[in-house]
Amino acid sequence: MSHRDKIKELIDKRAEAKLGGGQKRIDSQHAKGKLTARERIALLLDDGSFEEYDMFVTHHTTDFGLDKQKYLSDGVITGHGTIDGRLVYVFFQDFTVFGGSLSEAYAAKICKIMDQALKVGAPVIGINDSGGARIQEGVKSLAGYAEIFQRNIMASGVIPQISAILGPCAGGAVYSPALTDFILMADKTSYMFVTGPKVSKTVTGEDITEEELGGAKVHATKSGVAHFVAQNEEESTLLIRKLMSYLPQNNLEDPPITPCTDPIDRIDDALNEIIPESPNLPYDVKDIIYTIVDDHEFLEIHRQYARNIVVGFAKFNGMPVGIVANQPSFLAGVLDIDASRKAARFVRFCDSFNLPIITLVDVPGFLPGSAQEYGGIILHGAKLLFAYGEATVPKITIILRKAYGGAYDVMSSKHLRGDVNYSWPMGEIAVMGPKGAIEVLHFKELRAIADDEEREKFITEKEEEYRTKFANPYEAAQYGYIDDVIEPRNTRFRIIKALKTLATKKDYNPPKKHSNIPL
Ligand code: HXC
Repeated sequence: MSHRDKIKELIDKRAEAKLGGGQKRIDSQHAKGKLTARERIALLLDDGSFEEYDMFVTHHTTDFGLDKQKYLSDGVITGHGTIDGRLVYVFFQDFTVFGGSLSEAYAAKICKIMDQALKVGAPVIGINDSGGARIQEGVKSLAGYAEIFQRNIMASGVIPQISAILGPCAGGAVYSPALTDFILMADKTSYMFVTGPKVSKTVTGEDITEEELGGAKVHATKSGVAHFVAQNEEESTLLIRKLMSYLPQNNLEDPPITPCTDPIDRIDDALNEIIPESPNLPYDVKDIIYTIVDDHEFLEIHRQYARNIVVGFAKFNGMPVGIVANQPSFLAGVLDIDASRKAARFVRFCDSFNLPIITLVDVPGFLPGSAQEYGGIILHGAKLLFAYGEATVPKITIILRKAYGGAYDVMSSKHLRGDVNYSWPMGEIAVMGPKGAIEVLHFKELRAIADDEEREKFITEKEEEYRTKFANPYEAAQYGYIDDVIEPRNTRFRIIKALKTLATKKDYNPPKKHSNIPL
């Protein structure tokens, strides 16, 4: 073969690889409202930055007539590229080849880029669109999954790992994403389940659609599996690119600081009025977040799940931070099982990747009742407590209004190594709210008052007494548990100052194999 022919052979092979499973299946992918793997590469990465590995890999199976069905790349496109000029390793599953199902060779391609990403310290982004283990490959496919899982586990807390689910993902195809840091699903075109509707029907008799069992809405609202839902593929890639802008390349680097044009001393008078005079009236804590952060930009995570707590990324003076805030406008901002799990996972992510944590507190306590107790609120609440107590990144806490009971301790209090703890003048720090306290403290006296009106008068008086004692931040400040009481309108400036001071913070946990967080 002449050199010219050899070059033509290469060009032909590349063209063949780029067709994946063929034009018919590409058309079918488009007809389902999905893009092809190669179209997704173009959307996600900086123009011209993609370097592909292993385009000529094929599977090695001969059973079930597979020796006559080989496709270059074998159903997954792997390599690296850049997002805003920063290196990322990527794999894109190609549904047009055996439904994106995973073979031994396919798994080896993913493992190769994961190994390299870990060595160079760069994030891995996986775009998932797969029918799970390739049935014809049997145990080789299962082994391939486990090889990927092991690498997901080793990479956890070392490099950020992000998964987008842009098609059906079943079986093994959901467990690798579950081991990564963030899962994004595209609405209506993606679903995730360990076992699909057909198997569910056979085993349990339950008749359920794919969308009802594992659609984006279900995972964003009920299970909490999905951190983000995008309306379409374009929005998915934009969201991933946005998410990346807050994250460092690895656990040894700081998050990327960008120039900030929003004045650091921007004073917001409206904040002085934002807390309603009545302690029982709600307000939207997101209004506070949007007001204080750079350019009013906040990337919320788990927006539709456990809405009584808000978590997400923002910047202060160009420095990325994680924000955790109780949400008084949903279930009064109470801590329950879902909220505790959601926030604990987020706090641990921030701590893994050197993102300071800003905590905004307005919490009436833990949600009482048998449903919560039977569900294990003791253990789940302890997760959040554990996560905050273990975190060594800078921790800045602002008590906006209520900080009652165990929830005061949990929400990044001074006693859990909070670095800077401020309160607004509306802060109320106590073992419990006035109503509950009076009922416990004056139980016998209340029982002895027969007249309803008289009992109400007694309660009002005692509540007033209790409020005067505890419904202020000065009781806590007098013990140094609060470093300062700040005017709400100055909050942005005070946080930025604290972050600057804490930029060189070093704190350590005792040497150990790993902690034993109550899972
Ligand atoms: C081999 C597969 C496949 C698989 C799909 N295909 N899944 N080939 N192994 N797991 C092939 C189909 O034969 C078809 O080939 C093409 O991909 C497209 O599939 P369709 O069924 O036509 O597409 P669609 O109707 O969109 O349905 C997609 C789907 C469905 C929901 C993913 O294909 C499906 O249910 N697949 C099986 C899912 C599953 O149970 N996987 C095993 C999980 S067990 P042609 O040639 O027609 O294009 C597992 C174990 C690991 O993963 C556990 C680790 C913990």
